Amino acid sequence: MRSNENYLPHIATAAFLTLAVLISFQLFILREPTRIAADETYHKNTAVTAGKTTFAKNCAACHGANGEGSEDGPSLNNKQFLSTVDDGTIFSVVSSGVPNTRMPAWNQVHGGPFTDEDVRNLVAFVRSWQPNAPDLVVTVKPGDPARGAAIFDATCYACHGKDGIGTDRAPALNDTVKLHQFDDAWYRDTIMNGRPAQGMPTWGTVLSPEQVNDLLALFDQWRSAAPAVGEKPAATPAPTATVLPKVAPTAAPATPTVTAVVTAAVTVTEATTPTVEVARPSNPGGPGQAVNLKGVVASGLKIYTQQCVKCHGEAGKGGVDNPGSSDGTIPALNPIDETLVNTDIKVYAYNIDLFMEHGSTPGGPNPTSKMTAWGDEKKLTPQQIADVIAYVISLNK
Ligand code: HEC
Ligand code: HEC
Ligand code: HEC
Repeated sequence: MRSNENYLPHIATAAFLTLAVLISFQLFILREPTRIAADETYHKNTAVTAGKTTFAKNCAACHGANGEGSEDGPSLNNKQFLSTVDDGTIFSVVSSGVPNTRMPAWNQVHGGPFTDEDVRNLVAFVRSWQPNAPDLVVTVKPGDPARGAAIFDATCYACHGKDGIGTDRAPALNDTVKLHQFDDAWYRDTIMNGRPAQGMPTWGTVLSPEQVNDLLALFDQWRSAAPAVGEKPAATPAPTATVLPKVAPTAAPATPTVTAVVTAAVTVTEATTPTVEVARPSNPGGPGQAVNLKGVVASGLKIYTQQCVKCHGEAGKGGVDNPGSSDGTIPALNPIDETLVNTDIKVYAYNIDLFMEHGSTPGGPNPTSKMTAWGDEKKLTPQQIADVIAYVISLNK
């Protein structure tokens, strides 16, 4: 009789099996983090090893075999540096380099030899020093007025005039009253941020922190050359060399100088997300002689037809493909990128001139076309550059 069959053992077995499955599943879940961690450690080690090889070949010459730094590059194996930067920042700095310094761009995106992965491996290797990084005293190179004067002549002279006496384009900077009214921090801020709306360009993305220090040293020289009334001449010039105190490993807040250097590096590399910033070419450098010449639209048109049409299209209308660039096309010049436009014609010309002089590589993994450095490569004379700028501006009227 079926009603007499005993189901109890089956039920017990089923219950046991269910429980066994549940438990083993729990155990599996519990072990998962360990498995993932082991995986991560494996990948991290591989990245560190790969980064080590790349570093020895490409970076050690300037940053030292163990990242201890040299004449040619700052130390990276350094507690202060490593505790104040995150991986993203190191990635950016290594990718884009630091314009106007000896630090080259390494990522293919910025014209360097490495892929994103190569750069990530370098970051992993640099980061691997952190647990044992020595507490080095970081020195910021003192500003040098002679270097400052050279930078001034190359970048500021066109608007602020010889020795900063001013022109119709920009106010005098060698102005004793102003120099005594404002301190280094104010000048640093003004130079780094500029006042794009008033025609003073943003220099923080063009000059390195050291170069700004050099300019400040030049201003300091102007300042002490003519002391303000009632003020004692600075007998010993304010020390520009800042030697940072040692910081205990746990003291998190960085000294301002280090932060300034680091954030400046960030600003440089964040040029891809402009807010109010004027579009700037990827290649650094100041304006050429063209900005001081009067351009002739008719000859600009001829040059445009010979040299520019194939990339920027008939009458600057664009529409030319640029595979491998993030935009996918070469930018139109009519209408031209609106951040380059300025009501002051000199500033407008200046903005275009930077592209004309130094060329520019668009963002993206492997852009087919880039903007030629017409000035630097001496492919056009300053007058021809002035003419073609006049033509481009006339297209946008
Ligand atoms: C020709 C010399 C040179 C080479 C080669 C070089 N660097 Fe640099 N590097 C510099 C200089 C100079 C600076 C400082 C730039 C500045 O003034 O801000 C720098 C800055 C850096 C910084 C930022 C440091 C800081 O304190 O903000 C990092 C990170 C860096 N380099 C990594 C690398 C890596 C990785 C490589 C190899 C792929 C490399 N560098 C190769 C010269 C060099
Ligand atoms: C394209 C022209 C141009 C160039 C190049 C230029 N500036 Fe200026 N700059 C200006 C103008 C215009 C102003 C005035 C802005 C205003 O009216 O607020 C100015 C203002 C300044 C001020 C503030 C002066 C004050 O009294 O308020 C400083 C400091 C300064 N520039 C420094 C520099 C330095 C340093 C460089 C070179 C790295 C430079 N500028 C390059 C156009 C320029
Ligand atoms: C081989 C192709 C090529 C030629 C030839 C060329 N350009 Fe360009 N140009 C480019 C590319 C690509 C860019 C974008 C660069 C970037 O995004 O950094 C550009 C950017 C510019 C810009 C900045 C505009 C913007 O929106 O970023 C100006 C201005 C400009 N070119 C003017 C000229 C003039 C004038 C000529 C002729 C003398 C010329 N170009 C010839 C490829 C070219």
